[in-house]
Amino acid sequence: MLIAITRHVSPAIGKCELTHLERQPIDLAVARAQHRQYEAALKSLGVDVHPLPAEVDLPDSVFVEDIAIVVDEAAIITRPGADSRKPETESIAKALAPYRKLFYIQAPGTLDGGDVLTVRKDIYVGQSSRSNQAAIEQMGAFLASFGYTVKGVKVSGCLHLKSAVTQVAADTLLVNPAWVGKENFPGMKFIDVEPSEAYAANAVLVGKTVLYPSSYPKTRLRLEEAGIRLVIVEASELAKAEGAVTCCSLIFKV
Ligand code: GLY
Repeated sequence: MLIAITRHVSPAIGKCELTHLERQPIDLAVARAQHRQYEAALKSLGVDVHPLPAEVDLPDSVFVEDIAIVVDEAAIITRPGADSRKPETESIAKALAPYRKLFYIQAPGTLDGGDVLTVRKDIYVGQSSRSNQAAIEQMGAFLASFGYTVKGVKVSGCLHLKSAVTQVAADTLLVNPAWVGKENFPGMKFIDVEPSEAYAANAVLVGKTVLYPSSYPKTRLRLEEAGIRLVIVEASELAKAEGAVTCCSLIFKV
C-alpha cells in the first residue's frame, strides 16, 4: 500500500521563497481548493493520504517533498537550503518516524527533496542553489548500505532537479533538456517538454498513472501520445510559489 504525507497550505504562503519567479498574489482559497483536489486525485489512485495541519509561520511548508527522501529501507530528513524552511523538518520527522528509520543531513550539507530523483536504485541529486556536495556525500554514504548509488547532476535555469526532470513510466523520464542534460540518465527513454512549456517536466508517477497539471496542454498531448495514463489536476496557484505537483506529497510504500 502507498501512503502520502501532505500538509495543508499555510496562510503565510504569500511570503514563500522565490528564486526564479516574480512575486504574484496567491489566492489562499484557490490554492487550498487545488490542494484538496490534488489529495483527492491521490486517493482516487488508492493512496492513503495523511494530511498534516497547516503551519501558520512556515510559508513553504505545503511543499513537504523538500523535507525528506523516503526509500523502502529508511528516510532521510533534509536540511533545506533556504533558512526559512529549516524549521519544517521537525513535524515531518515526527510523521515519518512510525514508518522508517530516520537519517538526518548535517551541516554543512543542504538538501531539498525537490532535487532528488530516485529511479529504482539510482538516486540523482540536483546540484542547485538548495542542495550541495556535502549533502550528496552524506546521502551516498548512508544509502550505499542499501545498494543505492547517489550521483550529483548539474541543473540550471530552474529551482530543483525535479523542475527539470521526473519519471513518468518505469523506463521513461519527462525532461526539459534546456535545464538538465539527458546524458545524466543512462538507459532511460525520454519525452521532452514542449519548448514553450518550460515548467512542464514535473509529474507524479503513482503506480502506472501520472498525476499531471492542467497548465501544460502541449506536453500533456505528448504524454498521452506515448500511451501514458494521466490524472489531470489544477496546480496553477501553488505554481506561483514555485511549487509543482511532486512538491506537495511524500509518497512511500508501507
Ligand atoms: N517556494 C518554494 C521554495 O522556494 O522552496
